[in-house]
Amino acid sequence: MNKKLSEKNIAISPSVTLDITAKAKKMKADGENVISFGAGEPDFKTPDYIRNAAIHVIANGNIGYTAASGLPELREAICEKFKKDNNLEYISENIVVSNGAKHSLFNALQAICNPGDEVIVPLPYWVSYPELVKLADAVPVFVEALEKDGFKYTKENLLKAINEKTKAIILNSPNNPTGAVYTKDELREIAKIAVDNNIYVISDEIYEKLIYEGKHVSVASFGEEIKDLTIIINGVSKGYAMTGWRIGYTAANKEISNIMTNLQSHATSNPNTIAQYATIEALKGDQDMVNVMVKAFNERRKYMVDKINCISNLSCKEPKGAFYVMVNISKIIGKEFNGVKINNSMDFADYLLDKTKVAVVPGIGFGVENYIRLSYATSIDNIKEGLERIENAIK
Ligand SMILES: Cc1ncc(COP(=O)(O)O)c(C=O)c1O
Repeated sequence: MNKKLSEKNIAISPSVTLDITAKAKKMKADGENVISFGAGEPDFKTPDYIRNAAIHVIANGNIGYTAASGLPELREAICEKFKKDNNLEYISENIVVSNGAKHSLFNALQAICNPGDEVIVPLPYWVSYPELVKLADAVPVFVEALEKDGFKYTKENLLKAINEKTKAIILNSPNNPTGAVYTKDELREIAKIAVDNNIYVISDEIYEKLIYEGKHVSVASFGEEIKDLTIIINGVSKGYAMTGWRIGYTAANKEISNIMTNLQSHATSNPNTIAQYATIEALKGDQDMVNVMVKAFNERRKYMVDKINCISNLSCKEPKGAFYVMVNISKIIGKEFNGVKINNSMDFADYLLDKTKVAVVPGIGFGVENYIRLSYATSIDNIKEGLERIENAIK
């Protein structure tokens, strides 16, 4: 008999970023000299003092379940982090530790959305936002964050999109895929819009540590009203090179945190206990390694931006955070190279991978056609070689 599978989940699309990295990895495994600009993770090892903390836990053998919302000591350490880095006062009841920031986003959207609610998503968007919104039975409403506006929401665009169905705005600063970082004044304006319209802000701050000018500001820091409406998403994946450890966390009001805890308690229980102890070490230990990474990323960022802007038909804005450059390829679209017609960003990504063995992520993965995203979470030698190959491919 023909059984009907979940229509909602059948409709979820696969991640384009994961697809292209998988294809590039396969080519590499087959012995091809592939240079990948697809990486969404630091090319650094997890610092040894963090790994040692995990080894210590394993040696001790106390590896049982923890509270569903995470170890009390870890939630305390997260509160200290918020106080120190963001001047935000939270107590443990405001914090839920989850299996990566992606899981935190999933929990947050599940906790606040009802069927038909609208959630504002920036365009270009990080690949998972629209799907996570749909999984919560809500509707993603795309608000353009255009290159001419520094890839940021404008007040006008936001106000145009807001109506009585709007439940939340997703804000991501520093941003994936564009590297945009909102200024303090811009954040204050978004906070005001959210408070005036009684809308939640899901503030994805996972790239907080990877910022090249100035200091990260959280939108929740503009007063009690916006703090109560904000769900901060953060974690250790990007800032501490801990993507595989799968630890993310949220800070939110107690009511929302309770819902997320209950949901998580039935879905996944607590996040991995060993990784939770390692995260305490990451947050409380020496932060030097973060500075080493930021310095290396910054050098690569500068090289990449300068080089791209010297290649004819390509251009890019200087990203201020994260480790991505959004390259404008509008002058490439419609052209033909070595007999291959480029009609869209996917054609261009395919062309680069097939002809030059360079992996990039097509803009369509982020909802925009005139771009490709290059990650500089790879060595400077790879960046030099990869950009040279791209330059030659479009001569
Ligand atoms: C903007 C953004 N948010 C969240 C995540 C998820 O992070 P995690 O690996 O901790 O789940 C990513 C990872 O690529 C990201 O780019």
